[in-house]
Amino acid sequence: MNILVTGSSGFIASSVVKNLLNCGNNVHGIDDHNDYYDPELKKYRANLNIALGLAFHKESILNKEFLRKLFRDSKFDSVLHLAAMAGVRYSQQRPELYIDTNVTGTLNILELCKEFGVKKYALASTSSLYAGEPLPYVETLAVNNPWSPYAASKKSAEVLSYSYQHLYQIDVSILRFFTVFGPAGRPDMSIYRFIDGALNGEEVEVYGDGSQARDFTFIEDIAEGVCRSVKLSGYNIINLGGGKNPKTILDLISTIELKTGKKMMVKFKPFIDSDMKVTWADITKAKTLMNWYPKESFESGIEKTIDWHENNSEFIAKLKNIKR
Ligand code: UGA
Repeated sequence: MNILVTGSSGFIASSVVKNLLNCGNNVHGIDDHNDYYDPELKKYRANLNIALGLAFHKESILNKEFLRKLFRDSKFDSVLHLAAMAGVRYSQQRPELYIDTNVTGTLNILELCKEFGVKKYALASTSSLYAGEPLPYVETLAVNNPWSPYAASKKSAEVLSYSYQHLYQIDVSILRFFTVFGPAGRPDMSIYRFIDGALNGEEVEVYGDGSQARDFTFIEDIAEGVCRSVKLSGYNIINLGGGKNPKTILDLISTIELKTGKKMMVKFKPFIDSDMKVTWADITKAKTLMNWYPKESFESGIEKTIDWHENNSEFIAKLKNIKR
């Protein structure tokens, strides 16, 4: 298949691209390498995939003329739209960036899918939409009360995608990810920061008392789920999450301490209002529709992530520490 992956140098998308290339697909990637965190990490991920055959375009999804030419030249069978501004807490500081990328950017991609007759489309969405809903989170919940501009922008992207499925019969898979982690992860996220802090003997910050919990999901499981979703028809919202055992932030810290053998220095800061208290996915639908369930345990996923940090310590030390 001829596939476009947006945000292809991002943490999740770069892993999806690797899987698609390994399965023999022809893959184009687009990513603007913005500086939300150090672009050198995005370049690192992109280069690994370019070596495997990725056709990479360093461009923004807000450049519609560029997109039109790319769609015209490449005749995509599927578009996996994974480009996004993705930090929950930073969306309180710069909400306009989230509307530009996550709403206008999504509209651009949908318009081009319509214009060039692309029949399959998947969108990266988020567990953050389930704020305040009963646990475990099931896809049929209405999710009309986003707690952050980020979640609000993703809700907008979901409903826009629904309109395009309705009007133009594009098969749409909305994939709600649950705090994805793994090697070469996002430096703004808890697991990356905590492993970095543990290995370098630097203080880490916990927002609140650390009792908030996440249904952490390993990157390779997520990439597999995204690839499977390409085969679905119609409009489907699907949770891709751990599914059985949310871990608190304090659990996460003890696991990292155990696996690294280092005692962490923790500073407690106020809880942030846009943050979710607990996430926990009901993954029945993913199992039923795609025979998908996570294979990696939390503990072994953390071990693999620590290994990556240890094996790439010189590279990581050179990355600019952009605190968001
Ligand atoms: C993550 C991603 O950042 C979002 O892009 C994604 O949409 C979301 O998961 C999801 O999958 O739904 P989040 O769960 O906030 O968002 O991920 P982390 O940054 O790992 O934060 C987890 C918890 O740790 C939060 O309560 C956060 O406040 C806390 N945290 C994070 C700290 O206490 N200290 C830190 O330095 C970072």
